[in-house]
Amino acid sequence: MRAAWYSKNGAASEVLVVGELPTPTPGRGEVRVRLATSGVNPSDVKKRGRPLDTERIVPHSDGAGVIDIVGDGVSPSRIGERVWIWNGQHRRPMGTAAEYIVLPEAQVIRLPASTDFAAAACLGIPALTAFQAVHLLGDISGKTVLVIGASSAVGHYATQIAVLGGANVIGTVGSPEKAMHAQAAGAFATINYKQEPVTKRVKELNLGRGVDAIIDMDFSTTAKLIGESVVAPHATVVSYGSNNANDMEVPFRTLLSSSISLHFFLVYDLSPTDRRIALDGVTELLAGGRLSHSIGARFTLNDIAAAHEAVEGGKIIGNIILDLH
Ligand SMILES: NC(=O)c1ccc[n+]([C@@H]2O[C@H](COP(=O)([O-])OP(=O)(O)OC[C@H]3O[C@@H](n4cnc5c(N)ncnc54)[C@H](OP(=O)(O)O)[C@@H]3O)[C@@H](O)[C@H]2O)c1
Repeated sequence: MRAAWYSKNGAASEVLVVGELPTPTPGRGEVRVRLATSGVNPSDVKKRGRPLDTERIVPHSDGAGVIDIVGDGVSPSRIGERVWIWNGQHRRPMGTAAEYIVLPEAQVIRLPASTDFAAAACLGIPALTAFQAVHLLGDISGKTVLVIGASSAVGHYATQIAVLGGANVIGTVGSPEKAMHAQAAGAFATINYKQEPVTKRVKELNLGRGVDAIIDMDFSTTAKLIGESVVAPHATVVSYGSNNANDMEVPFRTLLSSSISLHFFLVYDLSPTDRRIALDGVTELLAGGRLSHSIGARFTLNDIAAAHEAVEGGKIIGNIILDLH
């Protein structure tokens, strides 16, 4: 099969190689997916900079296609099923930047007929992360939620899912184009965090109060906003990322005196219960046609380095995917 891989750390154009690898065959409990698309996420790009624990890595965890062979113990009725994938390259060397992938059947989820393979390549990380972030907030009906980076891949889904849950969403964005994208997803207001004082604007938009909850993708700056009381007492903050991944100080006095709850999570590592809730929840939203997807750019496998550079550049609005078959 054709695949892309890297065997050392370095810039995308220097280390990503495209060529032939043996086509995998499924073992017991596994299925093989003939991939149509592969989703490229920031964590795929960041992993390229981390020490390799194997000789070669075929990157990317997200993807979609059709099951073409099943291993022993898997119902042959799954052959021909249209599917999407989660954790494709989590703790395993063979991801979705290839024509085929073999995975345990539980990581290969039936795709509603109305969802195309491009959108399906955005589910494993962006949509599941957004769903879990909203899930961790509990009941948000009628509450005001601040979505940090509301036009990012995860933020776009988080905004939609929070609005579907009855929340009033304020989104932070970095440009007028991104503000339009966040508003199309349902945010009633946006704040350009590069030009406007976020806490002051939040209070102007929210009758002088802090928000009831934050869905956060950059804890390195959100920690400071919390210290400025961007949140109301008893608010919940769910964070899934930080532009600066080093240890940092938290505004302990504000957190304690306002009884703020902080949650962090990794989508790769959901508990089995949360995984089931998120998979069922996203499937239900897809089947009901309630999610809008945003494909920002499509690349061929040969252009995988350009796809990684596009993720690193942060200029493209929407998800970045590869077309495989
Ligand atoms: N914990 C998990 O399991 C998990 C899952 C998915 C993603 N993540 C992490 O979450 C982050 C976002 O992922 P993604 O796929 O949604 O990224 P993405 O689509 O690549 O979007 C990132 C964009 O967010 C904007 N941004 C950056 N800092 C911001 C800030 N402080 N406030 C508002 N907007 C900001 C930037 O655009 P502008 O410069 O134009 O503002 C940037 O281009 C990444 O760090 C990723 O690694 C974690």
